[in-house]
Amino acid sequence: MNTYGRQPVTFVKGKGVWLWDDQGNKYLDALSGVAVNGLGHAHPKLVEAISAQAAKLIHVSNIYQIAEQARLAAKLAEISAMDKVFFCNSGCEANEAAIKLARLYGHNKGIESPEIIVMEKAFHGRTMATLSATGNRKAQAGFEPLVSGFIRVPFDDLEAVRQVASRNQNVVAILVEPVQGEGGVNVPHDVKAYLEGLREICDSHGWLLMLDEVQSGIGRTGTWFAFQHTSIIPDVMTLAKGLGSGVPIGACLAKGDAAEVFTYGKHGSTFGGNPLASVAGLTTLETIEQEKLRENAETVGNWICDQFRAEFANTPGVQKIRNAGLMIGIQLDRPCGDLVRRALQQKLLINVTADNVVRLLPSLVMTQDEAGQLVRILAPLIKDFLNE
Ligand SMILES: Cc1ncc(COP(=O)(O)O)c(C=O)c1O
Repeated sequence: MNTYGRQPVTFVKGKGVWLWDDQGNKYLDALSGVAVNGLGHAHPKLVEAISAQAAKLIHVSNIYQIAEQARLAAKLAEISAMDKVFFCNSGCEANEAAIKLARLYGHNKGIESPEIIVMEKAFHGRTMATLSATGNRKAQAGFEPLVSGFIRVPFDDLEAVRQVASRNQNVVAILVEPVQGEGGVNVPHDVKAYLEGLREICDSHGWLLMLDEVQSGIGRTGTWFAFQHTSIIPDVMTLAKGLGSGVPIGACLAKGDAAEVFTYGKHGSTFGGNPLASVAGLTTLETIEQEKLRENAETVGNWICDQFRAEFANTPGVQKIRNAGLMIGIQLDRPCGDLVRRALQQKLLINVTADNVVRLLPSLVMTQDEAGQLVRILAPLIKDFLNE
């Protein structure tokens, strides 16, 4: 169906941050399948692990014990300090699970119409509940009636949340991206103060703090999860994208009381956490650890932003450069969607989100030399575009 505005290019192979099309042209990939291919393309450890697993067992069903899934759950619990994991196949499904969990948590407390606080400019997915939680009217248009039970407040505004708390008895949870991705790479002005403030409000009202780390998780911001730049631990966290390095897998993690909310029969997924996807997840996490890719994400991400800040010091059309590790946004003073096409002509893959933000989500294996090539292609493209 016509759901995508596809670029006129077909890729046939990849290696690290590089892709080749069916004409033999080579491209620098600064998008990594929209924050998915954290290990880069065709990482030998991943290729070997999933090939071996495919030869043994791809799928059985969650009716049975799945040793690989249990190992991945244990690893995720270890690196996140969360207690339990539900596996699914994508980010919207992970958030669907979180939304259901929050509602059940509310019902268990005797709240018949539980409500969840969500943010302006949020993106949580395209299923009906996650679309309703998403703060983008364009994405929602035509799909009304939306799912009810969401209260929207501005992002990075603790006072707005406190005001809802003072007048609403039905709130059971806050769902928030620590760094908004699709909304324009919006980093809270003080991520520590913001998340710690939200944690405090949740604690004093018995609400669940639910973090959507689908885009910001799995090493991208320099820590395993963006919340680890702060002192808090959420009650619920959702993951997908980078978790399986391209093999579809999503996860909804929970801690404490939240981890006990789902009981037998309350949720499920045919494919969720099957042996193949679980091995992809495990190998991704092990490789990020072994190759120190979180550290690399932070160093190279900051280096790229420093380079762009220097390049654009006298370019008024560039309004802001924001990043959290390798989640990078360059905000221009005008819509700039055409830059995607122009970059492709220069054999560079980028993205534009929120109309006027050039978004870069390179793989975590990007070297400083490759990052330098990215800057040398993109900076003049943006300057030329602004000069027209
Ligand atoms: C923060 C966030 N949550 C959820 C999603 C939805 O994930 P999926 O497309 O895997 O359903 C996305 C996708 O861009 C995302 O960025």
